[in-house]
Amino acid sequence: MIPANIIEDLKFRCDVVDLVGSYVTLKRAGSNYSGLCPFHSEKTPSFVVFPATQSFHCFGCGAGGDVITFVMRAENLDYPAALEYLANRCGVTLPEDRADPRDKGVSRKRIFEMNREAAQFFRAMLFDDTVGAEARKYLVDRGLTLPIIKRFGLGYSPDHFGMLCDHLASKGFTEEEMVVGFLCGKSQKTGRAFDYFRNRVMFPIIDVSGNVVAFGGRVMGDAQPKYLNTSDTPGFKKSRNLFALNYAKNHCEDAMILCEGYMDVIALHGAGFENAVATLGTAITSEQARIFAKYTKKVYISYDSDGAGQRAADKAFRMLSEVGVETKIISMSGAKDPDEFIKKFGKAAFSKLLEGSKTQFEFSFDRILAKYDVTTTDGKVKAGAEACQVLSEVRSQVERELYVSRVADKLGLSRESIKSDIASLIRRRNVAEKKNEMAEVYRATSGIADRVNPQAATNLRAAKTEEILLGLMMFREENIRAAIREKLSENDFVTDFSRRVYQKIMEIYEESQHFDMGRMNESFTQDEMSRVSKMIADRTKLSGNGETELMATLQALRRESDRSRKGEDVLDDIEAIIKRKKK
Ligand code: CTP
Ligand code: MN
Repeated sequence: MIPANIIEDLKFRCDVVDLVGSYVTLKRAGSNYSGLCPFHSEKTPSFVVFPATQSFHCFGCGAGGDVITFVMRAENLDYPAALEYLANRCGVTLPEDRADPRDKGVSRKRIFEMNREAAQFFRAMLFDDTVGAEARKYLVDRGLTLPIIKRFGLGYSPDHFGMLCDHLASKGFTEEEMVVGFLCGKSQKTGRAFDYFRNRVMFPIIDVSGNVVAFGGRVMGDAQPKYLNTSDTPGFKKSRNLFALNYAKNHCEDAMILCEGYMDVIALHGAGFENAVATLGTAITSEQARIFAKYTKKVYISYDSDGAGQRAADKAFRMLSEVGVETKIISMSGAKDPDEFIKKFGKAAFSKLLEGSKTQFEFSFDRILAKYDVTTTDGKVKAGAEACQVLSEVRSQVERELYVSRVADKLGLSRESIKSDIASLIRRRNVAEKKNEMAEVYRATSGIADRVNPQAATNLRAAKTEEILLGLMMFREENIRAAIREKLSENDFVTDFSRRVYQKIMEIYEESQHFDMGRMNESFTQDEMSRVSKMIADRTKLSGNGETELMATLQALRRESDRSRKGEDVLDDIEAIIKRKKK
């Protein structure tokens, strides 16, 4: 558990508008800010940030919370990891030892220390006269120079079951740490630990802070699997890292190059393209797309020239465009991947490839032209239809104009007919998108509502009243004090969820005589936090949020819970009471 004062400090230093603003373009709207929700796709902003309560809420999908919840969602982190993320961001030091029980008490820090030790061991083995001879020959045969081998910290895992285990043990690491850190496996039969990577060339994966977070190990022959990689550990998530980003981050203002493999990246760096990175053996994820968006404006996709590589390129295109990164595709002939290309044709030829790279439209149009015989009328019509489809997805109007001319010339069609086809496709898509958006919002909100407070369905009125009351309390501390004076108690609540929220508010308040929403994260899931933040957000929209409203709501709630106890289902009207009181 992290002490409350540290969380308070963290939240004080990480302003919600700053934080959210680094993910979402926010526009001022009165005393609040609004923008497009990062958690569901929408075209009109329904996402609001409230500086006064340091919270956010999406009135479309229902996602909401404070800076901590935001980071949990946006970076896909759990609560302790989100705190650490914010702490790094604003320079607060968290006390050690707040590990997830699933990690068996092994901290990230410990894993990184162990990985560093292992990387040094692998490197020493590679440069050992006898043990590393074959691996050195393998790397040199593949065209790697000594400086590049050293720069990437490559190594060799000996063909032995216990050398790394023994070495790490001698450095004070426990078997459990080795297993959790994915350096050793444990035999099902004997229960004994054994080295996980054996007789492989080792590629350390280093994050932007310089931590060795994982390893990839390649066999030197044709054995399977070709690569063995560290699984997700306390210090590592594949989907959130890019190979060689530790170097590429310093050469990427203008552009980055995205490849499939470790060897491609190393070959490119060796040839002077130090902005090359690779995903770690998986298709690009949205998290990785966001990393690109953070570091660069333009990405050259340089995937393998086979079918799988080209299909993966389509996906990368989509993911990167979604986060606003300009994307170009490199198509190679005469080599299966960048590594082979550089070796065969040299770095000048690769520079030419970059210059001649295509936009998504050009890439797709080439494919369309290859698919149809455009000397026939039938071929022209079909190619034209597909080209319009692709063109309708090009966002920039200027770019679209340019391509319309190109398609018209190539297929011998009139510009006007192409333009009008595109316009009607765009219209149709907009209607469909709006419908989808609404359906998604409906699904999301109704889904969250049901899961978070299942009793609300049968106690609609009471649940609504509870939410107003809790919202008032969280919105202003003065309202908490008023509720205490009025002897509000947990027995006044009808639904279990609301009661839990009430109990947590009181726990926080009683500990510090303050209410800090950040600490709600300790006891509630992300979906529950969304609901909590909605309670606050709804209050901020009302004109009156003071004691009058609190008293009226409290009174209404007591009536509701009375009725619920008697099994009555009578509706009440809080607004009416408020009006009467105000007169
Ligand atoms: N990969 C993996 N596991 C495998 C095969 C591939 O994790 N069994 C990942 C590795 O990160 C690899 C990338 O996918 O670098 C691309 O695979 P591939 O094109 O097959 O390998 P290359 O990088 O070209 O490796 P090499 O040139 O050494 O054959
Ligand atoms: Mn290769």
